[in-house]
Amino acid sequence: MKVSIIGTGYVGLVHGAILTKIGHNVICVDKKRENIERLKKGNMTIFEPGLKEIILEAEKNGSIEFTTEIKKAIDNTDIIFLAIGTPEGEGGKADLKDLYTCVDEISKYITTKKIIVVKSTVPIGTCNDIEKILRKKIKDIEVLSNPEFLREGNAVNDSLFPERIVIGGKNIEAINSLKKLYLYFEEKGIPFVISNRTTSEMIKYASNAFLAVKISYINELANLAEKVGANISDVSLGMGLDKRIAPYFLECGPGYGGSCFPKDTKALFEIAKENSEELSIVKSAIESNKRQREKVVQKIENKLGGLKNKKIAILGLSFKENTDDTRDSPSIDIIKKIVNKGGKIQCYCPMGIEEAKVKLSFYKNIDYKKDLISCVEKVEALVILTPWSEFKNMDLNKIKEKMNGSYFFDFRNLYLENKNIRKLFKYYPLGNS
Ligand code: UDX
Repeated sequence: MKVSIIGTGYVGLVHGAILTKIGHNVICVDKKRENIERLKKGNMTIFEPGLKEIILEAEKNGSIEFTTEIKKAIDNTDIIFLAIGTPEGEGGKADLKDLYTCVDEISKYITTKKIIVVKSTVPIGTCNDIEKILRKKIKDIEVLSNPEFLREGNAVNDSLFPERIVIGGKNIEAINSLKKLYLYFEEKGIPFVISNRTTSEMIKYASNAFLAVKISYINELANLAEKVGANISDVSLGMGLDKRIAPYFLECGPGYGGSCFPKDTKALFEIAKENSEELSIVKSAIESNKRQREKVVQKIENKLGGLKNKKIAILGLSFKENTDDTRDSPSIDIIKKIVNKGGKIQCYCPMGIEEAKVKLSFYKNIDYKKDLISCVEKVEALVILTPWSEFKNMDLNKIKEKMNGSYFFDFRNLYLENKNIRKLFKYYPLGNS
C-alpha cells in the first residue's frame, strides 16, 4: 500500500521506515526543508540504532520519498499519518499549535475521501476535533487514533515487534484499511486493541503515566532503602518476579526524563483537572520526579561537604542510553543545580553533547570533554547519570589515576557487583548499601 506520514521526528521517521520494511511505499513530509534535504541525501536527522540502514535500503528500492509538500502526500495517498510533535505547552498542557496548523493545511488540499491516522500523542478528544475541522471541508473523512509506543534508542525494534497495536475509530471500513496496512503484525500474532478514539488516546497517556508512576515509586523506595540499609536492586528483583508487578521499569535512577514521560504525565493531569478529576497519583509521580533530581544533587553535596569550586565529572547527558536526545534529561537539570551552587562541571556523553551545549548555553563553568578519560581528569568526584554501555565497562584503575578525589556516584547502579569498586573509590550507588 502507499501511505504518507506528516512529521519526520522520532515517531514519524521510524514509523515510515518500518512501513517500508514490511512492504509498503511511504511519502514522508516535513516542513523543515533542511531536514528533508538531509534525508534525501541519506543523512539522518535523528540518531536511532538501525534506522539509517532501513532508510538507505528504502531509498535504494524507491519505497520511501521525502518532501516538504503536504499537497503531494494528499494527492497521492489515501491514508495519511500525523506524527507531529505535541510538546509541553503552557501550564503543562500539550501544545497542539503545530498539529492544528498541519490539520488546517490538510483541509486546504483534500478533495476526496481520506483516512487520517493520528500517531501523535494528543489530549483525549483531539481526534474528534480534527475530524470536525476536516469534515467542514469534505464529508468523506475518517480520523483514526493509533498511538505509538516506541522507546527512543530501541525504536526500530519496538516498532518491528510491538507488544500491541491500538486503533481507535468509529468507521469499521477505515479501521479495516489500517488493519490491512498492519497485516504483517496481525500475521505475527501481535494483539490488536480496537476501540473508540477517546479510549485509544487515553491508553497512550495511561500507559506512559503508569510507567512514570512505577519509576517514581521505585525511586522513592530506593531513598528509603538507603536509610534502612536495604538493597533496592534486590527489592526490585523480589518484587518483579511477581508476574502481577513484572520486572520492567523498576530500576531506580536520577528521575525519568525524555520527550514523553515528563510531558505526558503533566498533560494527563491537566486533562483530568479540566474534567474536575484529580489524578493524585500522577501528580505525586510528577512531584516525586522533580524531588529525585534534587535529592541526587543533595547527596553529592552532602558527601563532598559542599559544591563550591568542586570539580565534578558528569557522565551522560542524553536522558537515556543510545540516543542523542537531551529533552528533559535529568543530567541537564542536575548540571544546572550543581553549577548554581558553585560547582564546576566536566561532562562527557557519547551522543548528547551538541544538544546539551544548546540547553546549557547560559551556564558557565561547564567544560564539554571529547572522551571519558579527559572528562574525569583532576575531578573530585564522578557522577554516572546515563547508563551508556561505555560507562559500564570503564577501566577503573585508569579513572582513579586521573581523578584528584575518589568520590564515585553511581546513580544507575552500574558497578554494584564490581569487586574492586569499593577498594578504589568512595562508592555511592543509589538505594544500595
Ligand atoms: C517512553 C515509553 O516507554 C514509550 O512507550 C513511549 O512511546 C515514549 O515514552 P522513552 O521516553 O523513549 O519511551 O524511554 P524509556 O525507556 O521509557 O525511558 C524513559 C525514562 O525513564 C528515561 O529517563 C529512563 O532512564 C527512565 N527509566 C526507565 C528509569 O529511570 N527506570 C526504569 O526502570 C526505566
